[in-house]
Amino acid sequence: MSALSTSSDGFRLHGEPFRIISGAMHYFRIHPDQWADRLRKARLMGLNTVETYVPWNLHQPEPGTLVLDGFLDLPRYLRLAESEGLHVLLRPGPYICAEWDGGGLPSWLTTDTDIRLRTSDPRFTDALDRYLDLLLPPLLPHLAASGGPVIAVQVENEYGAYGDDTAYLEHLARSLRTRGVEELLFTCDQADPEHLAAGSLPGVLTTGTFGSRITESLAQLRAHQPEGPLMCAEFWIGWFDHWGEPHHVRDAADAAADLDRLLSAGASVNIYMFHGGTNFGFTNGANHDHAYEPIVTSYDYDAALTESGDPGPKYHAFREVIARHAPVPDEPAPAPSRKLPPTAVELTRRVSLLAHASVLAKPVRVDADPVTMEELGLRAGYALYRTTVPVSGAGVLRFAGGVGDRAQVFVDGAPVGVLERERHEEALPVRLPRAGATLDVLVENMGGVNYGPRIGSRKGLLGPVTFDGTALHGWDCHPLAMDADAMDADADADADADAVGSVPFASAQSPAESPVDAGPAFHHGTFEVRTPADTFLSLPGWTKGQAWINGFHLGRYWNRGPQRTLYVPAPVLRPGTNELVLLELQATTEPRVHLTDTPDLGPVKP
Ligand code: GLA
Repeated sequence: MSALSTSSDGFRLHGEPFRIISGAMHYFRIHPDQWADRLRKARLMGLNTVETYVPWNLHQPEPGTLVLDGFLDLPRYLRLAESEGLHVLLRPGPYICAEWDGGGLPSWLTTDTDIRLRTSDPRFTDALDRYLDLLLPPLLPHLAASGGPVIAVQVENEYGAYGDDTAYLEHLARSLRTRGVEELLFTCDQADPEHLAAGSLPGVLTTGTFGSRITESLAQLRAHQPEGPLMCAEFWIGWFDHWGEPHHVRDAADAAADLDRLLSAGASVNIYMFHGGTNFGFTNGANHDHAYEPIVTSYDYDAALTESGDPGPKYHAFREVIARHAPVPDEPAPAPSRKLPPTAVELTRRVSLLAHASVLAKPVRVDADPVTMEELGLRAGYALYRTTVPVSGAGVLRFAGGVGDRAQVFVDGAPVGVLERERHEEALPVRLPRAGATLDVLVENMGGVNYGPRIGSRKGLLGPVTFDGTALHGWDCHPLAMDADAMDADADADADADAVGSVPFASAQSPAESPVDAGPAFHHGTFEVRTPADTFLSLPGWTKGQAWINGFHLGRYWNRGPQRTLYVPAPVLRPGTNELVLLELQATTEPRVHLTDTPDLGPVKP
């Protein structure tokens, strides 16, 4: 029996009138040692519920598997929520959007271009059902029917913005039910008649996603669903950032006034986000409408709790609003956490990536055209393509179909240009100094599209490469996964530095390699910590790359901005000596980076 039910104008929990005051917080974007802290702060703001998506791509990196530990120990997250007295709204997708790589659809699935994603195509629903067969049994004890905290489960995500295959939604609802989910089911869609109609399912509660125009949006919901609870399943109180755009913020007083409007109207709410967290590793998604636009590493979202878990202006403003409508714990609001004293880290060792590519990955030889990252079995990271060019002279290198997503081109090790999917670039004028020169193309996957019809777009070199019309055949393709598995691994500071563990810092260091030499390279440095605390990695003078501390993959940095610092959660640090590794793709003017006590997410829109 479902603990949560609906009446003509609201929810009932165990038969009593109940209003959901929830906040979104994705366990997979927060270091697991910080889950308890963040959940406590949710309760202290006055939330009675937290909401989370479930990312299929991480929980099932290969068909037939299920990863449920470290960052992905969802049962533990649910237990912690319960011990904080919080209810949980679970949004298992299978598609989650969320500015998350591929919208959460695993790349082993999206690689098969024949499969019609998010439809009743049996090749999609079979894969989905096999996943639910593994995912749901360990979650069932945490559903309210078994005494656990999960009171409702979402079916798909904003499906009305994507398709109208009601049979698929019915299949999904049935799949949840037949595998033991008795809780209230709901759909969520943007609050307009078309989306609500296409994404709703008879017998399943419809909720809306909106951040403003509260009265109009609630009216749209009411017009669609004449009775039952009104719920904003995503009340957008901030927004996400793309590389190269200003940092998004929303005024706290404005967001709080809209929260008050929602609660005054008697609606239930899920604040998106209460705490955004971080796209650690290679987990960020991308938009692709007219152009490809990858999401930055921070998912701060200008949320109530900042990326580092500190209460921001919205935390206090929302707490005040909630207190007008519901009981808020009579305990002091949390204070910001201690930060590490600022320090500089010298990067003293450097190893060229191009010179050591075959140590990092065994190349796959193809006799004709280069193959995509998917064909190399790469879920994320980089691929280095190497060939010998039989001709010389000035001409144009053409990459048919473009690149996914950013390619750096080198001739005999010297950089000759960059092509970006963002700018629709497919051609590069070059001068080849000699017949027999080595052409290297280092391609970066900048994140899988998470919204719209382009989910699953290919990465790497996407077609034949020609030089002035002559096809370049015969490539060594190096799959440089770096650490696609980082989030599966142990999350503590003692985890093996698998990610970059094979970088030959000790043996291959050339005395001639100075930190400020140009060209893609790994840089290594150490720093001392007395007592671990949160800190922010600031990289002035560095261009673009990835950062790891003690083997933990913090994510991508880029001087294009807006984001200028990377969040370093305290639990990845250890007392004593800590290791920093950077993969710098271009060049640095500085042989050092800084650990600061203040985040810098970049300039906001004037
Ligand atoms: C939609 C999606 C969410 C997220 C937000 C924007 O509402 O459902 O997953 O992508 O947009 O942050």
